[in-house]
Amino acid sequence: SLTIRNDVAGNSSSPILYGFMYEDINYSGDSGLYGQMLRNWNFQAGDTGGAADLSHWSLVKQNTGSATITLDTANPLNSINKNSLRLDVTTSSASSRVGFSNEGWWGLRVQPGESYTATFFAKATSGFTGPLTVSIESNSGTVLASASVSGLTGAYQKFTVTLKPSVTTTTITNKFVVSVASSGAVGKSVWFDVFSLFGKTYKDRENGIRSDIGNVLEAVQPSFFRFPGGNNLEGQSIPQRWQWNETVGPLEERKGRFGDWSYWNTNGQGLLDYVYMCEDMNMVPVLGVYAGYSLDTSSVPEANLGPYIQQVLDELEYLMGSTSTTYGSLRAKHGHPEPIDIPYIEIGNEDFFSTTYDYRYKAFYDAIKKVYPDKKFISTGPQTSRPYDLLDDHFYLTSKEMIALFNHYDNYARGGSDIFVGEFGTNSQGCCGASAANLDAALADAVFMTGLERNSDLVKMIAYAPLLNRDGQTQWNPDLVGFNTEIVWGTPSYYIQLLWSANRADTILQVDASNGGFGPLYWVVGSKESTKQIFVKMVNTGSSSQTIGINLKGASVHSQGVARVVSGGLEDTNSASSPNTVGIKESVFSLTSATGFNYTFAPYSATVLLLHRM
Ligand code: AHR
Repeated sequence: SLTIRNDVAGNSSSPILYGFMYEDINYSGDSGLYGQMLRNWNFQAGDTGGAADLSHWSLVKQNTGSATITLDTANPLNSINKNSLRLDVTTSSASSRVGFSNEGWWGLRVQPGESYTATFFAKATSGFTGPLTVSIESNSGTVLASASVSGLTGAYQKFTVTLKPSVTTTTITNKFVVSVASSGAVGKSVWFDVFSLFGKTYKDRENGIRSDIGNVLEAVQPSFFRFPGGNNLEGQSIPQRWQWNETVGPLEERKGRFGDWSYWNTNGQGLLDYVYMCEDMNMVPVLGVYAGYSLDTSSVPEANLGPYIQQVLDELEYLMGSTSTTYGSLRAKHGHPEPIDIPYIEIGNEDFFSTTYDYRYKAFYDAIKKVYPDKKFISTGPQTSRPYDLLDDHFYLTSKEMIALFNHYDNYARGGSDIFVGEFGTNSQGCCGASAANLDAALADAVFMTGLERNSDLVKMIAYAPLLNRDGQTQWNPDLVGFNTEIVWGTPSYYIQLLWSANRADTILQVDASNGGFGPLYWVVGSKESTKQIFVKMVNTGSSSQTIGINLKGASVHSQGVARVVSGGLEDTNSASSPNTVGIKESVFSLTSATGFNYTFAPYSATVLLLHRM
């Protein structure tokens, strides 16, 4: 039996223990979290970072109209977006139309009741002012919604239309089309650049995130958001690093970059967009800043660090500076006059891989600390040059190894720096390979997290990684949330995060076990003073159910409790075709007495028992 000790003071638990780590991996940003529905929307580069092309765009022509579409490098929109799509209308008959379509990211989702906003820049040769027809059509040619624009001139202008398909079912076999009636346009050319198409975004944010993905993430009640990487901060080489200044401002000023995960990142979702996501989801920003080390193992020499440090100082001024500063005023121009607090600054990523972190950490720390003395600094590897508030520890392990880490921090020295478990994830067969995100892995996560929560006086923040995975584009396995063009689903590990995070205590209570220690049962018990709730979190990694007596010392509770349970077979998983195999089942149970009861924990389960103190 277990005795929950309400009669002795517990340890306070970190109020921001659970959060997210995010980077664009597994096509999780462009094509996923970022709500942009069009692919190759500004013709900046090929899918894998090669020369720009018109992939994902196709010529549309009907009846006897004919036309060509080409990538034009001679009619730039501006100095950043130099390539445009050029439509040349060649022949026509009375009722023909010509134009082009975009296939979206593996389809274009159209849902009942949803409106779509399209924007683009266009100009035309003299004598052609439009109209252009902008539409969403099924792949078989049914027009689901359309609008027209006119008034084209010889200079680029931005056009915006709203499209409201009246459909009764959700489909993804659709395309975005821009066309002209060829009869009035023969011999004319029209240039286009920087398209966008958005449906409903999370919290209706402009240029925002896909609302269904946002809702699935919000349910976890994350307290912090670590971004933009991960490896994707570092660059495959120094010049390819993530650079904040290339990710802010209007879309037509964003250049894009070849991401570390070997596909083109448009930067349509940039620094300020991540901040908006933090604001909309009530998450504390944990900002990773580039610290002079890239994935090809090159380090910026100490003597050359100056411009890299300055770039980070500029980034921090952009976020936190008043509007009277250079970059604070740029932020205001971009729509966010209020300074944004960045309480946690992480210097680099996984610098335990490098041998140069000592001089790099020192240089970045000194420069940032001078301007922002009150911020918390996160070190990502061993270095002794300067102090740090938190050390970022990462764990990608097998189920067995992860469970063995249950007591990893039990005897860790208190009173020095704290711990940030900035990335962890169990793969039942070892790091990052083909194994499915199954219940076996999720239960090992749960055991590890139970150990972390027991030590949450020391371990202040924890985040599963990677966060998101586009079905069919997996680069790292497992991930927390899967999605395709049509739907989003949580993996079993997602439901563990949700269970542990959304049932959050502020104090960890002492628990006395009368018979034996941990395994196959692992537990942590906490209370929340403001709501008088007690949370008993229990993981049963064994194949048999376990009946345990639970006694309360120093408190009595109401006669009914709530049980929230994730359980099943070890191989159970969720997928596009079966998204709800593993989930949380909730039930009410009765207690035999206000100070004690028996509870039977299911085989292979993670359970939260929610009790209410009188
Ligand atoms: O989460 C996937 C990768 O794992 C991260 O980019 C990196 O920090 C770690 O090696």
